[in-house]
Amino acid sequence: MAGEETTSPAASGRLPRLTHEELRRAQSRTLEEPRRRYGTAARILFTLLDAVYGKPRTLSKFKVLELVARVPYQAWEQIAFIAITHVHTRTGMARRIHERVAASRAQQDNEMFHLLVIEELIARAGLPQPQIKFFWLPQAVAFVYYQLSWLLFVVRPSWSYRLNADFEDHAEHEYMTMVAEHPEWESEPFGSEFDDDFGHFASLADVFRQIGHDERVHKLESEALMKEPRFR
Ligand SMILES: [Fe+2]
Ligand SMILES: [Fe+2]
Repeated sequence: MAGEETTSPAASGRLPRLTHEELRRAQSRTLEEPRRRYGTAARILFTLLDAVYGKPRTLSKFKVLELVARVPYQAWEQIAFIAITHVHTRTGMARRIHERVAASRAQQDNEMFHLLVIEELIARAGLPQPQIKFFWLPQAVAFVYYQLSWLLFVVRPSWSYRLNADFEDHAEHEYMTMVAEHPEWESEPFGSEFDDDFGHFASLADVFRQIGHDERVHKLESEALMKEPRFR
């Protein structure tokens, strides 16, 4: 992204890692920008999550968001592989579809590291995670969300990309808001067993700013794809 230099290679997910100053600017920009006008499916999902996990921004709630966040990329990857099966004799087209497979995989990896970093923080804090609320219910939501993303893509890809853009926009704003709500995180050092995979950050605040920025990149990608004539 213009003005945001990559300061170290993104080990996974191939997204830019920002410096502390760049992360602060990214947070300010997100908090100043209005949210997208969310569609019906996204609004239902966010209302459901608020009802079950509460409105406050907690690590446990973000874990659930991250469990769900990966599945559109899984659906798109699967659809693209099926498409390659059908068109493999046209190698040029198969190669172009495979580029979508690779992009979907990279985003899944990136979302997975968000999940693992949060899981690690939850474990360190010793937060209780009842199985039904934090394992089975998120799996059920993710299953339905996968089917919906898949179906929308088959009917009209731009609809699936739009739903994901709404989800990512919500995540971006929620992460950046959560950082603003926790000034004490600015001086809390961060170390993780996933440092080499996800990135090295000076503070807990910066880790969450980086995750918020990753969500922004995901959103911008989906917004670009949903405008492409071939997906409308
Ligand atoms: Fe994420
Ligand atoms: Fe994301």
